[in-house]
Amino acid sequence: MRLRIKNLTKQYDGQKAIDNISLELDDISSLVLIGPSGSGKTTLLRILAGLEVPEHGEIQINDHIIHINDHMINFDENNLLKYRKKIGVVFQAFNLFPHWTALENITYPLIKVHNFSFEEAEDRANTLLKRFSLDEHKNKKPLQLSGGQQQRIALCRAASLKPEILFLDEPTSALDPEFTVEVLDLIHELQEEGIEFILVTHEMGFAASSAKHILFLDEGRIISQGNPAQIFTGENRPDRVVNFMNKILKYETEK
Ligand SMILES: Nc1ncnc2c1ncn2[C@@H]1O[C@H](COP(=O)(O)OP(=O)(O)OP(=O)(O)O)[C@@H](O)[C@H]1O
Ligand SMILES: [Mg+2]
Repeated sequence: MRLRIKNLTKQYDGQKAIDNISLELDDISSLVLIGPSGSGKTTLLRILAGLEVPEHGEIQINDHIIHINDHMINFDENNLLKYRKKIGVVFQAFNLFPHWTALENITYPLIKVHNFSFEEAEDRANTLLKRFSLDEHKNKKPLQLSGGQQQRIALCRAASLKPEILFLDEPTSALDPEFTVEVLDLIHELQEEGIEFILVTHEMGFAASSAKHILFLDEGRIISQGNPAQIFTGENRPDRVVNFMNKILKYETEK
């Protein structure tokens, strides 16, 4: 993907959640956002996914111009819908409609939003459910599924649209370690199939193994960026980054 951000600012109640971020990236297949709580990761991800309107700035992702200065281009409803249809989004939790089965959660959006026929939608859903060993759960409703199974269904749903970019906000943070691995494995497989993503995560091992580029955010600014080696072991990293890494990696064991 290609990403251009210029002077992006977003405030909540006069407080800057995103503080004048600029960025130019080319040919990045996976972008990972890390940083302390409240640093602006979710806000940035939501702005890039067209779910949140910034105060100011220019944003272009691939060929989509999402925001120019004080005007959200995509707020032209048609453009917004077009862009939103091309991307996939998975959050921390509660991604599924509770009254639909796992299968319906995948097929209904395909049918209702993307004009697939019932057969086409079922076909695509069943292929994914088999592929990721979720077949036996397809007639269960979300409450009958483990958190890990729910997130994998949510990822299948997002992947079923063959999104141009997948936006993931801490998709494993509500899960037990065992389920976390299941979900990360699935993301990894989607990545190997060529799906590009922007991910917010606290899973540093996964960030290191899956990111082509990492942004470290602090107080709404990018204070460090680079490939995983540069972020995790590079010289001349800001103290804030080194301290954060030491803290977060304190109890990590070699896998
Ligand atoms: N809807 C909102 N209303 C008011 N303030 C908000 C809102 N969303 C975010 N903020 C504030 O903006 C700042 C950035 O929040 P954001 O959720 O982007 O951080 P984050 O890096 O995702 O944190 P975490 O790791 O805890 O998820 C925080 O100070 C937060 O309190
Ligand atoms: Mg967040």
